Amino acid sequence: MALSINPNIKRLVCSRTGEEVEHDGFSHPIGLSPAGFPVAVEYDLAAISEQFGDDLFVDRPGMWRYTNLLPVAGVPDAYGADVGQTPTVPYPDLSERYGIDLWVKHEGGNPTGSFKDRGLAVGVALGHALGAESFFLPTQGNAGVAASLFSTRLGLRACRVTMPEDYVGGMYHKACAHYGGEVSFFGPNIAAAGKFAREQMAEEVAAGRSVDLSTFFEPGRLEGKKTMGLEIFEQFGDDLPDWVVYPTGGGTGLVGIWKAFEELKALGLIPVDKAMPKMVAVQSVNCAPVVESFRAGSELVAPVTSEGTIADGLDVPGAIMGHEILRVLRDSGGQGVAVTEEDITVAYNELAAVGAASGFEGSATLAATKSLLESGSITAGEKVLLLNTNSPWVALSKTLS
Ligand SMILES: Cc1ncc(COP(=O)(O)O)c(C=O)c1O
Repeated sequence: MALSINPNIKRLVCSRTGEEVEHDGFSHPIGLSPAGFPVAVEYDLAAISEQFGDDLFVDRPGMWRYTNLLPVAGVPDAYGADVGQTPTVPYPDLSERYGIDLWVKHEGGNPTGSFKDRGLAVGVALGHALGAESFFLPTQGNAGVAASLFSTRLGLRACRVTMPEDYVGGMYHKACAHYGGEVSFFGPNIAAAGKFAREQMAEEVAAGRSVDLSTFFEPGRLEGKKTMGLEIFEQFGDDLPDWVVYPTGGGTGLVGIWKAFEELKALGLIPVDKAMPKMVAVQSVNCAPVVESFRAGSELVAPVTSEGTIADGLDVPGAIMGHEILRVLRDSGGQGVAVTEEDITVAYNELAAVGAASGFEGSATLAATKSLLESGSITAGEKVLLLNTNSPWVALSKTLS
């Protein structure tokens, strides 16, 4: 397969310091910046606009429709055609109930049932295009399943997935193994599992043979998640939502959607004077580092001790890209909202009652919307988009077993 790097990448930058990060002609995989922060891909958007004009988005199934704004090209349809291009659906009953215009983007149709497929599809293809032969990551759920699948799709060595010890024999363990992942277990949580995996793999990473796919440890996952923002733009056109409500763990989706909007503005596809959606980071009160740091007006996200949440994807006690998450919330005029476990379950049932098949993470976004209506932040008639980030089956397996 002839994977190639987008020739219109202008430079790689440290997301925290803004300093350019060397890539030596894209001759090796990209990890964190020398300052220890996530690296972001910057495109030459003027050149892209001039080169592709009205043909910026290509006629292909799946998310490589956005190939001109992705770092890696050349994936075959067998790799990427079933990733992305998910539906965005209006809910008239809920809209009437709350006096707003409510929409849900459903990510459950991705191949492993969650939006993680977008980021891992790009992360794996990019790392391989840069010379890596294998991948590893710590996970407590969907990301490990997606990383296993895309490593298998490229015919690479099994993705090495490390999970906290109490995941042995669980659904995610079996799903990773099913898609070809090599699963191991370490420690009480994902932070401990990650530290262990990094120590084990240090030599292979230094040699450029393996890539750490942990959230934001390489730039591909963010670029993949960005495609949600590009789709939102295509699905809503001139009439973008007033609010985008996002269930936030590590924050790749939130930062990615906003990166898409910023690139579209720079490309002239969104008018510069157009009001942009206000971005909302939703977390559980049991684990709300982003919400707490946003309220405190901090520059970085301070880690917390998680008390556990039914919404696995929100059980992330720190955020290496916290500075960007907080910038997006501030720049967009958005909010951080923490919802209770009970609020999540009530919203989960409320969505089911109108025929919306949602996970717990997606349900948390409806709970947050109700809270923002109560506080008067969201006002009558506003257009609100909820991100339902996975299929309902993980939640159903917990509530129905
Ligand atoms: C279903 C689901 N929703 C939301 C999240 C949070 O994602 P992000 O890292 O983009 O904040 C996750 C992460 O594990 C997830 O699995």
